[in-house]
Amino acid sequence: MPIIIIVYYGMALAFFTLFALLKKWNEVRYSRKGIPPGTMGWPIFGETAGFLKQGPDFMKCKRARYGNLFKSHALGSPVIISMDPELNRYILKNEGKGLVPGYPVSMRNILGNNNIAEVHGALHKRIRGSILSFIGPAAIRDHLLPEVDKFMRSFLHNWADKTIDIQDKTKQMAFFVSMKLIVENEPSPFHEAFKAIFDNIVSGTFSLPIKIPGTNYFRGLKTRKKVIATLKEVLTKRRCSSATHADILDQLMRNKDFKYKLNDEEIIDQIITFLYSGYETVSTTTMMAVKYLHDNPIVLEKVREEHFAIQRRKEPQDLISWDDYKDMVQTRMVIFETLRYANIVNGVLRKTTRDVELNGFTIPQGWRVYIYTRETNYDPNLYPEPFNFNPCRWLVSCLIT
Ligand code: HEM
Repeated sequence: MPIIIIVYYGMALAFFTLFALLKKWNEVRYSRKGIPPGTMGWPIFGETAGFLKQGPDFMKCKRARYGNLFKSHALGSPVIISMDPELNRYILKNEGKGLVPGYPVSMRNILGNNNIAEVHGALHKRIRGSILSFIGPAAIRDHLLPEVDKFMRSFLHNWADKTIDIQDKTKQMAFFVSMKLIVENEPSPFHEAFKAIFDNIVSGTFSLPIKIPGTNYFRGLKTRKKVIATLKEVLTKRRCSSATHADILDQLMRNKDFKYKLNDEEIIDQIITFLYSGYETVSTTTMMAVKYLHDNPIVLEKVREEHFAIQRRKEPQDLISWDDYKDMVQTRMVIFETLRYANIVNGVLRKTTRDVELNGFTIPQGWRVYIYTRETNYDPNLYPEPFNFNPCRWLVSCLIT
């Protein structure tokens, strides 16, 4: 056998052994007595690629091998994934008992350490208190509803007879409507510039937290810096002026209630978090609702009738009121069914603050717990014929008195 072939075989064998040893080392590193079964993948990377790329198939494949509760390593942390509906309900009802919100490190670093989804205890209470006044039920009724109506009228006004890319349009809608509610009055190039870079924030939050140029994470962090600089300029400009604004930023800045007062860093983290939280969620829900309405003409007709009935009792310039919204039972049913059927959020993440016992297993301190709820939305015991788009199943939940 020529020497070159022997060298090739030798190198291949060496690489293979090295990879096998690295994987083994990662398994040993995270092995503890009493933790759920599963695999941890490669050092640092874990099983992130499969977790992100295969999504639900990754989960199903793991469940077939290890059952409803298994371990993995994804997005930079060891994680226990629960696909057990009973256990998921238990965890969500027992927040605080050794489990706190625990989103990926990349998400925390890009949205900011003070973002409301990251903090807990007294700080969570303070931030929640400061934002409830402008996104709570009263604010929705008196301010957000008419403002969104105004925005939608101008957003939709020239769509007639045009071919629309609904994915693109719903993304624009979700971004610009929250931007307008958060920092109104800024000129439209300001909003456009923000939108142009915002996708980097979104892709960065679901990536491995390895700061190497060219990665989504790196771009996300760079974008965060730009966003902070822009928002700081707006804060300074507003402080130098006596003008007031009917937007969320103004309310955060001028909050007089000492109990809920936020500093500039905390304000900026919340602004980035609001833009982020309402972006993919709202745009995907809207896009899927349009698709389901298109596929279900009878449902579409009911929604149209409901809207035309409301329109008939109003003048064209009258904005939507809370009473109108209360009458939109068909519309709410479509939204609820879209959220279920399209599975907008697959699950929520928590982090253990101490060793926690779940279903007879021990979850070590500092590990993530992924409460995977996607399957619950297709459980035929909860939702008969779960793969049918059937808004009527929500009738009782959608009646507002
Ligand atoms: C279809 C739309 C939406 C869906 C499906 C959705 C889903 C969720 C879910 C499942 C959580 C709980 C996360 C957890 O427990 O860890 C959450 C929390 C949150 N959402 Fe949304 N969301 C939507 C729209 C929005 C919008 C428009 C905003 C804009 C302000 C927003 C802001 C937040 C915030 C700030 C939290 C954290 C609350 C806290 O920690 O107390 N969401 N959302």
